[in-house]
Amino acid sequence: MKLSVYLGENLAGHLTSTAQNGVVFSYDPAYIEAGLPPLSLSLPLSTNEYPQKKCLPFFEGLLPEGDVKKRISDYLHVSETSTLKLLKELGGECAGMVSILPEGEQNKIQSTYTFSPENYETLSQKNLVEYIRNIDARPLLKAKEKLRLSLAGAQEKLPLAYKNGKFYMPKNGAPSTHIVKPTGQGTLSTLSANEYICMKLAEQSGLQVPNTKLIQIEDVEFLLIERYDRLCKGNEISRLHQEDACQALGILSNNKYQNDGGPSIADIYTLIKTQTTIPLLETRAFLQYLLFNFIIGNCDAHGKNYSLIFQDNSVKLTPMYDTVCTLAYPNLTQKLSMKIGKHYEIQKVNQADFEMLGNQIGLKPKTILDTFNGLVEKIDNAFEIIKNDPILKKHSDILETIQHKLIRTI
Ligand SMILES: Nc1ncnc2c1ncn2[C@@H]1O[C@H](COP(=O)(O)OP(=O)(O)OP(=O)(O)O)[C@@H](O)[C@H]1O
Ligand SMILES: [Mg+2]
Repeated sequence: MKLSVYLGENLAGHLTSTAQNGVVFSYDPAYIEAGLPPLSLSLPLSTNEYPQKKCLPFFEGLLPEGDVKKRISDYLHVSETSTLKLLKELGGECAGMVSILPEGEQNKIQSTYTFSPENYETLSQKNLVEYIRNIDARPLLKAKEKLRLSLAGAQEKLPLAYKNGKFYMPKNGAPSTHIVKPTGQGTLSTLSANEYICMKLAEQSGLQVPNTKLIQIEDVEFLLIERYDRLCKGNEISRLHQEDACQALGILSNNKYQNDGGPSIADIYTLIKTQTTIPLLETRAFLQYLLFNFIIGNCDAHGKNYSLIFQDNSVKLTPMYDTVCTLAYPNLTQKLSMKIGKHYEIQKVNQADFEMLGNQIGLKPKTILDTFNGLVEKIDNAFEIIKNDPILKKHSDILETIQHKLIRTI
């Protein structure tokens, strides 16, 4: 099987499954000649073919994970491990600007799309709610409607467009502008409210976050998150390229936790320091994200929950996303995705661990402590503001739990 990989309108190269060497990737000579951006920091422009070990982390990293991947694979009658077959079915619109099509299929992707009925079809609230209700039984509205969309992560998501209070399904290769994340079930039924609260706390604390709404239609609750990898100017929408830290470091999604071979804080810090355009700003932002996640008790801030965005020859850290107080759920692990100093157990992290972290990333322990204390104060103040948010009236329990779980001292 051979697939064509596009970055926006441009053919970047081909992904091929070979009998002897598994999956290989080669850049298209014209793409290299034109000096266009590499697909990934782990795949610099080269005339050499990239072997499976080098290229799979980026491409496999575009696919959903866990149960979502399993359900989609079952639905499509494709093996979960067959990255190429899954990309063939789902790769039409991935995170950022990447789209993957069977070789020979015409690439419809344009650099800019007008927000018009030709490109965006109205999605009624009734249909949206019906889709979310059946999301587990029928994982792919995408497959059914011949839409081919893929986002990483273990939770079901629906990329769509949203403007002036109305929902739309993109058509003809037009970009989605928002991500719908339905809330969890059972003990995780407060997950959307939890993520919403954490995003608002981050925003109020001065961190960069995408615009996020918590919406309830009938009995269905979901988050509506604006995509930071889209550029909307008036009625014109275009895509921006992004990749997560695991992809940039050449690490498979399966290994995203440090304990499973995933990146450490120092690995991501070094990536940001060496690859972003203004390292001083971006490393500072990363430290804030990291400490914010620690303070609010998010044990799931792994290497796929920090990403880089590429725009006009500049490389930046993306806004924060997927920030949840996992400590609110006693059945979830209390082990951090990336250890701080010597400790994975969030409750055991102490001053010596922060000092060790400082030494690892080349920051004075005082800088880390001052940032930590400053954030605790901002988050405490943020709670007072968020408590008045009318949408959280019925979520006072989870709000209180998150406030109670805050790690204010180390
Ligand atoms: N606001 C956004 N704009 C653009 N891309 C986003 C945005 N939020 C998330 N993404 C992309 O979608 C992916 C999945 O999102 P997210 O991490 O929120 O999902 P998840 O299923 O909760 O993940 P996890 O498995 O870590 O719990 C991210 O890794 C990122 O690439
Ligand atoms: Mg995630």
